[in-house]
Amino acid sequence: MRDTFFVTTPIYYVNDVPHIGHAYTTIAADILARYNRLKGKKVFFLTGTDEHGQKVAKAAQEKGMTPKAHADAMVENYRKMWETLFIRPDAFIRTTDREHIEIVQAMLQNLFDRGEIIKRLYAGWYCVHDERFWTEKEVENGRCPDCKRPVEHISEENYFFLMSRYQERIVKHIEANPSFILPETRRNEVLGFLKNNQLGDLCISRPRQRLSWGIPLPFDQNFVTYVWFDALLNYYSATQYLAPSLERLSDTQRGGAEAASGAPAPHLNDWWPPDHHLIGKDILTTHAIYWSAMLMALEMPLPNNIFAHGWWTVEGRKMSKSFGNVVDPGNIAETFGADAFRYFLFREVPFGLDGDFSEQALIKRFNTDLANDLGNLLSRTITMIEKYFGGTIPDASGDVPANDLPGTRALRDKAESIYPLFDRALGTLSFGNAIDSVWDVIDDANKLIEDEAPWNLWKQREMARLSKVLYSLAEVLRISALFLYPFMPTTAGRMWGQLGVSGDLSTANLQREIVWGGLRPGTTVSKGPALFPRISGEKKSAKDPLS
Ligand code: ME8
Repeated sequence: MRDTFFVTTPIYYVNDVPHIGHAYTTIAADILARYNRLKGKKVFFLTGTDEHGQKVAKAAQEKGMTPKAHADAMVENYRKMWETLFIRPDAFIRTTDREHIEIVQAMLQNLFDRGEIIKRLYAGWYCVHDERFWTEKEVENGRCPDCKRPVEHISEENYFFLMSRYQERIVKHIEANPSFILPETRRNEVLGFLKNNQLGDLCISRPRQRLSWGIPLPFDQNFVTYVWFDALLNYYSATQYLAPSLERLSDTQRGGAEAASGAPAPHLNDWWPPDHHLIGKDILTTHAIYWSAMLMALEMPLPNNIFAHGWWTVEGRKMSKSFGNVVDPGNIAETFGADAFRYFLFREVPFGLDGDFSEQALIKRFNTDLANDLGNLLSRTITMIEKYFGGTIPDASGDVPANDLPGTRALRDKAESIYPLFDRALGTLSFGNAIDSVWDVIDDANKLIEDEAPWNLWKQREMARLSKVLYSLAEVLRISALFLYPFMPTTAGRMWGQLGVSGDLSTANLQREIVWGGLRPGTTVSKGPALFPRISGEKKSAKDPLS
């Protein structure tokens, strides 16, 4: 089994401020990164910003700034937002980094020297906004079929990457690797497209007089590089100068034929290939087709998986500045807490499907799942341990025949079954199913309280039985916190804190911690503020004598 785990997000354009959509992909990567660290893997979680191209140049111009000064300012929005949302990437790449630029130029030179890039006259329709050419057939009444803005007729010389050469190979690769593109619907879309269309070559240059904000082509200074060609290479360039160091670096020249002129070939280390490229469905073509062809031409292994998740709308509408409905994750985190926001995004909608955001839906989840199911379970458990056992974890080894307490035995079995279920779910990026596997146990723990009515056991002085029940509840909470940690890192830490568990979840060893019985009798618990104080608007449950 590989002991490294490399996950990436798209690099975001700096012409915009981060919103719920950017947060979604980046939190997904953070969840996977945290979980794989718990499993003991060496993790490289990469995110960053895409800083070249027309869109960014235009946004800077509108603000009267140079593109670089504008990017420097905008990047901070992303960095701060990731901190607010408890997102901890290992690296933040900027495509204006000197190292990235040099690597992109080396790869361009390599492809040019090996005849994978050629110069050609091109006449066609160009959409400035999307920075791409369209064929006569594709243009709809003089407008871009994608963004619907008017297109311009342009005739000029440009450099083309001979992408059409790779059509067959890409199809074969997708067919031979069922999990290369997920979800399956997206995989079928890409296959359908490749089987029914003739793939063209990719124009990878822009004349400097039209657009100067880009990486100069190393073999022709009159042109800069098409922004997508530069951006996609971030996944590789980051492994060369930003990846955590690996003790056992093989650092061999595994891929890439050395160009005749000696232009550097890709230099692969143990981080390559990535385990997951997480992206939104909007950029599937560039990743599944352009990127695959680029890697094939560079003779590099393809990523193991490209996962294109669904699209968030807000209260049924497309998110847009003109509707004034762009969701600022910073505001949500301030009102509800970053953990609740993270939980909501991955509990509410299966990864891969489209989702609709509304504060009402978030409040409902908050009150039902987080305040009631989880928060109450912790606070009732700690309260009862304080009330009946002076605030220390009871010893559960007392003499109660096992068949007298089937509930605690079943609860233990359930808690021990979280790991395989959770692991399988996150392995296929089924975040919702992973959460379900934990909630199943939380629900059963709540049921155990109802069934055993510890307050009656206390009245009847059934102390051995009461000890077993409360120990089981506390132990379930300790183990659940481990699995909730990737989703809600602060909450999980507070759960451990209240249970008196020492140690830091970010460096915990999952295999050791999941073993039942880790909580030592005699440990002092300490009740803290409610994990998720109910949000008013819904009535508090009346039947609970301890909450
Ligand atoms: O496309 N719902 O950057 P970008 C879900 N720079 N996800 C959303 C979303 C929404 N409503 N809106 C945005 C680019 N996203 C290029 C990428 S990668 C080599 C270059 C997320 O700033 C989703 O991950 O437009 C989507 O793919 C990405 O933001 C687009 O970010």
